[in-house]
Amino acid sequence: NHAPLPDSYGRLLTYLRVSVTDRCDMRCIYCMAEDMTFLPKAEILSLTELERLCAAFIRHGVRRLRVTGGEPLVRRDVMSFFHEMGKWLHRDTDAPGLDELTLTTNASRLAEFADGLRAAGVRRVNVSLDSLDPARFARITRRGNLARTLDGIHAAREAGLAVRINTVAMKDVNEDEFDTLIAWCGEIGADLCLIETMPMGETGEDRTDRYLPLSTVRRRLEQDWTLEPLAYRTGGPARYARIGQTGRRIGFITPMTHNFCESCNRVRLSCTGRLYTCLGHEGSTDLRAPLRAGEDDAAMMDHVRAAILRKPKGHDFLIGREADDPARVRRHMSVTGG
Ligand code: GTP
Ligand code: 5AD
Ligand code: SF4
Repeated sequence: NHAPLPDSYGRLLTYLRVSVTDRCDMRCIYCMAEDMTFLPKAEILSLTELERLCAAFIRHGVRRLRVTGGEPLVRRDVMSFFHEMGKWLHRDTDAPGLDELTLTTNASRLAEFADGLRAAGVRRVNVSLDSLDPARFARITRRGNLARTLDGIHAAREAGLAVRINTVAMKDVNEDEFDTLIAWCGEIGADLCLIETMPMGETGEDRTDRYLPLSTVRRRLEQDWTLEPLAYRTGGPARYARIGQTGRRIGFITPMTHNFCESCNRVRLSCTGRLYTCLGHEGSTDLRAPLRAGEDDAAMMDHVRAAILRKPKGHDFLIGREADDPARVRRHMSVTGG
């Protein structure tokens, strides 16, 4: 009864994103509000509880696991979680196991953890970085320190981790920096991924004014760089091209201009044990209560299976949706880490 997890649109769930904490040492303008109230400890699953849930998902066909937050590396003892999950890597093809264990991080603590992550089996990290200008970086992240983040990125490269830089494209904020970022990624040997702003949660910043369609950006970039489309995929929504001049990849994540929901393979587990089957919907299923009530894995996976059968066909993010529109997603991006 370790059957895989299909949804009602024929999509197979093979990619689990696990948020290990709602906390973060930054407050990026598109992600969080300035004054966030974080969850009390009792609400948060222990690492053992998270490990148990993840193991059940892996037994049911999850092959890629991405650790997110908030900022995953601010969770105490998070390395023990990576080591536990790393034990599932590289099982033979028939047995359940992970093809990839990875994380999305703001890199503020990556210098400290890069070697440990590599030892746990991580080979690739996605790092959020929206600007290479210290003052602008500070303004976007509200609390970040660019030098610290760059140290983290260099440490990751030195530890032998492949790095993809995630840049949320924002009109009048960082749109003049994409060329600089492309060149810099070429120098440090990283891929770059541009992301359209998604309107989730109140952040105290107007994302309607900041929205920048990547179709426009791409046309602009193509005047100065050769972009050769690639079939390469990472299991996520990015579509990649090779940049002739640097040899590195550039990815585009375009939930707004080009919806990719029909090939969605993922679900998200929050740090409180709620399963979110779509980033763009409020619907979620509590797994913490059954877990803490002592239900076994089979019973737990019945809840999961039922939730996945309710996975929506896709998001309906709309730029400019009024704040009181019921279809508007109120939860912050940091609940599920994207
Ligand atoms: P890879 O495994 O490297 O492909 O990672 P990823 O792009 O799936 O994950 P990452 O955490 O780096 O997220 C990059 C951006 O993609 C973030 O803005 C996420 O919110 C967004 N994203 C990831 N999955 C989905 C999804 O299913 N739907 C939408 N709309 N956005 C997503
Ligand atoms: N829209 C698009 N991307 C976002 N991220 C956080 N908030 C948003 C948003 N509103 C991105 C971060 C991080 C990834 C997990 O999600 O840049 O790299
Ligand atoms: Fe923190 Fe990431 Fe959200 Fe920025 S995007 S506030 S780094 S969780």
